[in-house]
Amino acid sequence: MPVALSFDQLLSAKDIQKQDIDLLLNTTDRFHQGMKADASQFLHLAKGKIMASLFFEASTRTRFSFEAAMYRLGGEILTLENGGSSSSIKKGETLSDMGRIVSGYSDIVVMRHPDSGGVKAFAEYSTVPVINAGDGPMEHPTQSILDLYTIHYFQKKLEGLSIGFVGDLKFGRTVNSLVQLLAFFPNQTFYFISHPTLRLHPEKIQFLKDHGHRVYELDQFENSISEMDVLYMTRVQEERFSTKEAYNEVKNHFVLTKESLNKCKPTLSILHPLPRVNEIMPEVDLHPSAHYFDQATFGVYVRMAILFHMLEGRA
Ligand code: NCD
Repeated sequence: MPVALSFDQLLSAKDIQKQDIDLLLNTTDRFHQGMKADASQFLHLAKGKIMASLFFEASTRTRFSFEAAMYRLGGEILTLENGGSSSSIKKGETLSDMGRIVSGYSDIVVMRHPDSGGVKAFAEYSTVPVINAGDGPMEHPTQSILDLYTIHYFQKKLEGLSIGFVGDLKFGRTVNSLVQLLAFFPNQTFYFISHPTLRLHPEKIQFLKDHGHRVYELDQFENSISEMDVLYMTRVQEERFSTKEAYNEVKNHFVLTKESLNKCKPTLSILHPLPRVNEIMPEVDLHPSAHYFDQATFGVYVRMAILFHMLEGRA
C-alpha cells in the first residue's frame, strides 16, 4: 500500500494514478468506520490548518462535504460563495492574481468555477495545493473518487463491472472524470445512454476501447438494465445550454421509474452525483438498489481522506 499521493495539485482525474486510488479508498474506509465509532477522534489531523473554499458556481454537496471534512479533521475554513459577485474578481482581478493572494492565507484551496480551465488558471500561481471541485463541463476528480468508493462499498470490487451511464454525457463533468478512473480496472463493460446530442466525447470512447473495455452507445436503457451492476444517472445541465429551447429539447428524455427496474439484478447499485431534477422518480428512493443518498453522505469521508493526504507532510 503506498503511503503518499503521487500528486500535489488535484486538477484533473488524469492527475490520479491507480496507487492513489488504492490509498484514498483505504483511508476513506478508515475514516468512514472510525467516524461511526467516534466522530471526534480525528480532530488533531488538520489542527492549525486552513482550507479556503472558493465557489464560483452553485453547490450543496461538494462545498458542504469539503467544509464538514475539514472541520472533522480539526481544521478551519475560509469560505467564498458566489465568487464572481462577492470577491475582487467582480472588480476585474484575474484568477491568477487571486491564486497568488488566497494561497498566502490558507494551506489548501478547494475551488469550483464555471469555465473549463478556471481552476487551472488559479492554481498556476498558488503556492499551496489546489483541488478542482468542478470546472465547467470538464472535470470533477474528487466526485470520481467518491463514486469509486461508493461502487466498491456496494459491489465489493472495481473490475469486471457492467456500468450504465445515463443522461448528459457531453457536459457531465462527473462522468468525464469517472470513466477516466474506471478505465484502470480491467474487463469493464460500459453502456452510454444519452440523447444523440449529449453523447460522451469520441476521444473518451476511444480511450476506453484502447484500454480493452467493451463500449456500447445506446438510445435507451430498458433493454440493457438487466446486465448492469451499476447504473449512474445524471442530470441534463440547463446551465450548459446556450438557449432554453435547446435545453427543453433534450430534458426529461430518460426517467428512471420503479417499473423500469423490474428486470434489474438484485445487486444493482443506482448512483447519481445529485442534484436530480426529473431523471429519478422519488418512488425509486425506497428501492434496495437506490444508493445515491449514501453516496452523498460518503462525500465527507472521501474528502477527509483527500484533504488529509494532500496536507500531510506539508509544514
Ligand atoms: C455535480 C456537479 O456539480 O458536477 N454535482 C455534484 O458535484 N455532486 C452534478 C450536477 O451538478 O449535475
